[in-house]
Amino acid sequence: MTQETALLSKTPVPGEEHAPSRKVFVKTYGCQMNVYDSDRMSDALSRDGYVSTDVLEEADFVLLNTCHIREKAAEKVYSELGRLRELKKEKAREGREMVIGVAGCVAQAEGDEILRRAPAVDLVIGPQTYHRLPEALKRARDGERVVESDYAIEDKFEHLPAPDKAKTRARGVTAFLTVQEGCDKFCTFCVVPYTRGSEVSRPVAQIVAEAEKLVEGGVREITLLGQNVNAWHGAGPDGRDWGLGDLLVRLAEIEGLKRLRYTTSHPRDMDDGLIEAHRSMTKLMPYLHLPVQSGSDRILKAMNRRHTAAEYLTLIDRIRAAQPDLALSGDFIVGFPGETDEDFEDTMRLVEAVGYAQAFSFKYSSRPGTPGAELKDQVPEDVKAKRLERLQTLLMKQQREFAQACIGREIDLLLEKPGRMPGQLVGRSPWLQPVNVDAKTSQIGDIIKVRIIKAGSNSLFAEMIA
Ligand code: SAH
Ligand code: SF4
Ligand code: F3S
Repeated sequence: MTQETALLSKTPVPGEEHAPSRKVFVKTYGCQMNVYDSDRMSDALSRDGYVSTDVLEEADFVLLNTCHIREKAAEKVYSELGRLRELKKEKAREGREMVIGVAGCVAQAEGDEILRRAPAVDLVIGPQTYHRLPEALKRARDGERVVESDYAIEDKFEHLPAPDKAKTRARGVTAFLTVQEGCDKFCTFCVVPYTRGSEVSRPVAQIVAEAEKLVEGGVREITLLGQNVNAWHGAGPDGRDWGLGDLLVRLAEIEGLKRLRYTTSHPRDMDDGLIEAHRSMTKLMPYLHLPVQSGSDRILKAMNRRHTAAEYLTLIDRIRAAQPDLALSGDFIVGFPGETDEDFEDTMRLVEAVGYAQAFSFKYSSRPGTPGAELKDQVPEDVKAKRLERLQTLLMKQQREFAQACIGREIDLLLEKPGRMPGQLVGRSPWLQPVNVDAKTSQIGDIIKVRIIKAGSNSLFAEMIA
């Protein structure tokens, strides 16, 4: 779930061009939840007249929405802050203001340490207090160096504006919707329980209202987000305690909403209701991101994952029995402290046994404050690198095989946006692969029948079926 690619903030929204123009540039690192949060923060600022820009030099406020998951991700932020410091100086010489803010998981983890390390930073704000951003920004503009990293008692989501129709339209036909935040699992390698706090589920009515608004704004596919999205639960209108499966069924009732996805799931929280949803719901896409991290029981135990490799495989069998067309995706860590060659071979065997359509794999990165960082037997970098290379070769091979097996299949394709070639649009297959097809711009948002004719390295090519 944590592609480390930085996503630039979206282009200005129609209707905003004439607003009194202070401009905000948001740069997003890390997972989809940060992408969602960046939009929510931009929406909150737009009430104070801030227009989003993707031209850094134009910005009066630069906000980095950061990720702390691995050392590299966190260090990237500091090198970016170094560059911004120069830009800020340049602007000051021209008499122009540039406020620099740091949000996201680095902000939460490091708090005022950031102000010490990066003197150009004016504002640090953690994920639990984003609804206070407009007010914090005002204080920063008045010259205060602001740190907001408490866990807010009030409901952040109640106080953050939902996106309006024009903004939603500009953002496209697919959208993220955070339904659950935080994590109580405490895997021993992971910072998320510390940066995002304990598990909180948003209430059903709030989620349904936001989904309806998105659909009014033209959204056809919603991906429900949570650090442990399948731990989501809440009181249903029928008085029962609902799980994610119930929520998906309720959301599927929204007319105009064509597709649902969810990410990221923990194996321990895949309950019967959710597996049943995969069997019975046509709007729920046959794709599941179910990280396992390792195939060795010894390492799984040391990671505090609280399941064995065999339990994971049995679970996959049950989900596949409910939805035989399921594409599986996973996350893997190689070189967790104490991982031996034999442990690593267990991971390779598990991958062989599952057959992934997609996967993300990482070298273990020791994170300050996590139990893993205290463990002896840290694995040398070159060993990690060799293991990662072997694992990625296998995962890539499986991804290619999965793509090849799609050739000739007829699928429903949701057309999302212009493709690379003129006259082409790109959308996602049910299994989340990008698919290119010749189609007209006016068809964006339509779901069309196509036949897959070719598999490229990262995307598929298709032709329309009359
Ligand atoms: N909640 C999700 C994952 C969040 S982090 C889950 O439980 O799956 C996304 C991925 O980053 C993890 O699945 C893990 O593979 C990887 N990751 C997390 N901490 C890491 C660390 N310290 N070093 C390397 N990879 C890590
Ligand atoms: Fe991190 Fe584990 Fe929680 Fe996922 S389940 S966010 S890996 S602690
Ligand atoms: Fe990174 Fe925080 Fe997401 S650490 S992966 S941005 S929850």
